[in-house]
Amino acid sequence: MSSLIPVPQKSEFNGNAFVFSRDGSGAVKYDYVKDETIPVEGYEIKAADGHLVLKSSDEAGRFYGEVTLGALDALTGGAPGEFYISDAPAFGYRGYMLDVSRYFFDVETVLKHIDYMALLKLNTLHLHLTDDQGWRVEIKKYPRLTSVGAYRRRTLMRFREHGGYYTQEDLKKIVAYAHSRHISVVPEIDFPGHFSAAIAAYPELGCYGEHVKVAETFGIKYDVACIGKESTVAFMKDVLEELFTVFTDEYYHLGGDEVMCDRWNICPECRKQKEKLGCESWSEVQAYVLKELVSFLAEHGKKAVIWNESAPSPGSDKSVIWQYWQGGLDENKLTKEVNAGRRVIMSPSVPYYLDLPYSVNSAFAIINYKPVGDNITEKGNVLGVEFPLWTELVPTAKQADKKLFPRLIVGAEAAWRGAPEKDAVSRAEKYYPLLKRLGAKPGKPLCVKRGLSFIADRLWWERRRLYWGVLGNLVGDLKARHAAKRRLRQPDSHIM
Ligand code: ACM
Ligand code: ZN
Repeated sequence: MSSLIPVPQKSEFNGNAFVFSRDGSGAVKYDYVKDETIPVEGYEIKAADGHLVLKSSDEAGRFYGEVTLGALDALTGGAPGEFYISDAPAFGYRGYMLDVSRYFFDVETVLKHIDYMALLKLNTLHLHLTDDQGWRVEIKKYPRLTSVGAYRRRTLMRFREHGGYYTQEDLKKIVAYAHSRHISVVPEIDFPGHFSAAIAAYPELGCYGEHVKVAETFGIKYDVACIGKESTVAFMKDVLEELFTVFTDEYYHLGGDEVMCDRWNICPECRKQKEKLGCESWSEVQAYVLKELVSFLAEHGKKAVIWNESAPSPGSDKSVIWQYWQGGLDENKLTKEVNAGRRVIMSPSVPYYLDLPYSVNSAFAIINYKPVGDNITEKGNVLGVEFPLWTELVPTAKQADKKLFPRLIVGAEAAWRGAPEKDAVSRAEKYYPLLKRLGAKPGKPLCVKRGLSFIADRLWWERRRLYWGVLGNLVGDLKARHAAKRRLRQPDSHIM
């Protein structure tokens, strides 16, 4: 019983025998009672005197009750003994993010990841659909986004072409599959940074109408969207408009992270825009443009989520949800913002990014992290947590499984319980057979690296950080300046 993940809020086993009975399909048979007193997504199960009764106030709670029964069935061989469980989640937002831009994962793999989520009672799938390394969603008005933007000549992991994209029909299938498991889907169109795949397809979206490649390397790219032209915002609205028929849930992610504002400094159109708006900094101009998209989403009944450093009108507009990943924001600022009314989703890169090496983000680090800091008084503004899997170094579904497990299992307990129990790591291993039934290949349970393997893992990570944080930026900066100077020497051609 104590092997369940997430461990239920309350459970009692009295040691008396109880064996599941089954319906014609082999599923555990139970009587269902709708009980309005049970919290949203919560459930109660009582197995005693030969009867099994499952209660909930909503369909999601019933679903989670069934998931618990399925897990108990697998963990106990169908004979759990008499028990009583009363359970409900601590957080309404229990997320997992899959980056399908850096590497494209086919529909079947995404469906499999949805199965993992359902088993772990996670309820929000965030699809990172666009980035410098690939545009993965069909937009009928802009076919080059996928015919050009979805393919790159090579990647750092594989020296051959890589690409692919989801048709709108594919995505509708993914959304329907997720909904049938009480999982919402949040699409992310990252803007105005992490945008070079779009610029590769439509050069006029950039500042100089330059022909750039869909990125073949990692790191932050200098080819960001031009925010001086009205046509760029119009493009984004067109994209969102088409997505509204595909992604029917409330949250839409507009990215906004890691924008290289310097690019705009050397663009006449962007400078004109800054002057016209009377903004002192580029982040204010970015906030203004973002705000226009946030309003557009609101007109369509959608709520915007953004990475924390791109808040429109910081300090005032609290309608936008921050996904906190620690980019340029310290915990004190976060606390102040949350206590002042900002709603947040917690995805601190350390320890929640699942692509980071185990020497940096161990399963134990996830257990020890408190998603709601002690100084946060408005606890309800922390909507929940999300565990992102960035895939720049994760080219296959099998490698993804190795990164996910056991960390996503432990993370799911943080999502359901608010904080995982200390023994979550040892229980996580017991879930491997259940995950394997869903097609997972989790490999050897690996919670943390030790000894020489720890040092090698860590050195590799520090080298990557040096490249990303210092060298990559310097090289990108020099390239961008050189390109801008070249353009400015040809005044008639610098703007399309
Ligand atoms: C991020 O990791 N750039 C959100
Ligand atoms: Zn520009």
